[in-house]
Amino acid sequence: AGVFTYDPGFTSTAACDSAITFIDGDQGILTHRGYPIEQLATQSRFLEVAYLLLYGELPTPKQLTDFETLVTRHTMIHEQMQYFFRGFRRDAHPMATMVGVVGALSAFYHDSTDINDPQHREVASIRLIAKMPTIAAMAYKYSIGQPFVYPRNDLDYAANFLHMCFAVPAEPYHVDPIIARAMDRIFTLHADHEQNASTSTVRLASSSGANPFACIAAGIACLWGPAHGGANQACLEMLREIGTVERIPEYIAKAKDKSDPFRLMGFGHRVYKNFDPRAKIMQQTADEVLALLGIENNPTLQVAKELERIALQDEYFIEKKLYPNVDFYSGIILEAIGFPTSMFTPIFALARTVGWISQWKEQLADPQLKIGRPRQLYMGESLRDYVSIDKR
Ligand code: CMC
Repeated sequence: AGVFTYDPGFTSTAACDSAITFIDGDQGILTHRGYPIEQLATQSRFLEVAYLLLYGELPTPKQLTDFETLVTRHTMIHEQMQYFFRGFRRDAHPMATMVGVVGALSAFYHDSTDINDPQHREVASIRLIAKMPTIAAMAYKYSIGQPFVYPRNDLDYAANFLHMCFAVPAEPYHVDPIIARAMDRIFTLHADHEQNASTSTVRLASSSGANPFACIAAGIACLWGPAHGGANQACLEMLREIGTVERIPEYIAKAKDKSDPFRLMGFGHRVYKNFDPRAKIMQQTADEVLALLGIENNPTLQVAKELERIALQDEYFIEKKLYPNVDFYSGIILEAIGFPTSMFTPIFALARTVGWISQWKEQLADPQLKIGRPRQLYMGESLRDYVSIDKR
């Protein structure tokens, strides 16, 4: 027996203390190590933000170069892992492949299992950040029947990812620096978000002392759901299904109808009750990228903007404080870059790996770390005697 606080969905439970990310949901503020996301997304680069999240301070030029070199040297995956990929059906969702392959890293890099050694934790962190783009790109290449493309160490993190996704042996692939910059910004906007469901999953899995690669695989599995990272794929599919601005009111009505399970994807957030600051930057980036590509009249973007406008004037959305979130505009940019919707959540996963790993490291360094073990309110039968099968 015992008295427990009942908090389904953990709406009011702080499960840890953390010095990494701060969110003020009422004011729409997001900071990493004290720096506002608006400044990081526009003035910094993803690997610089990764360094900040991992080590607590912005790197000096030398620290950044050393960090980039270190990450770059770990971008290859064990050659044997390609057979693991080849075991999947080609029509597997890339997230399904990623859950398996990232978990399987634990079978290839045994020295990272000794998490009590800070040196080993460090190597595991670098390996994960470096290998996620390679794994995500391989999952994509496999799904479309193209040969795997090895990483290129002369390219930066985002450009290398685009190269591994879009290059083919028959033709050189030119990575447009402006597209690479947009990719980098998408990564930065997804890097960390305090104790969201997947990060909490990683922390809970790791609280037992589990293998770091297996913990990140658990985070990927959680992220996949449409209420979380899977919303970016679901959102673009919804915008395509709506198709024209004339059909928006029909979908708004569906979203408000409590007897209909449909929700506006890319809308609403557990913490943000004003606006999601990432969504604003994402919308600006969508405008920039589409203008650059000369497709600013993209019908999906038109539907998205009109949907946002109508929803933000609607009593239901105002009263429930539902605003576009990070997943609302990201898919439009990713589609314009050339990704199929099935790659949207893997891209979220590769970027969020930095956050997961930073929080994993922070947790392991906490001298008060205890295994995560929630309690329950038991609602079942009270004590009763077993009845033999012939008497039932
Ligand atoms: N469309 C219509 N109604 C909504 C929506 C929506 N997108 N989101 C919330 N509501 C309603 C909900 O029905 C509930 O109404 P009532 O109080 O009458 O029952 C009220 O608003 C509060 O919603 P909730 O489900 O209790 O809130 P939550 O904090 O548990 O859920 C959420 C947050 C993000 C899961 C939810 O808003 C949602 O399902 N949104 C759509 C999926 C989505 O875009 N997810 C991405 C989240 S952000 C980035 C990420 O994690 O990947």
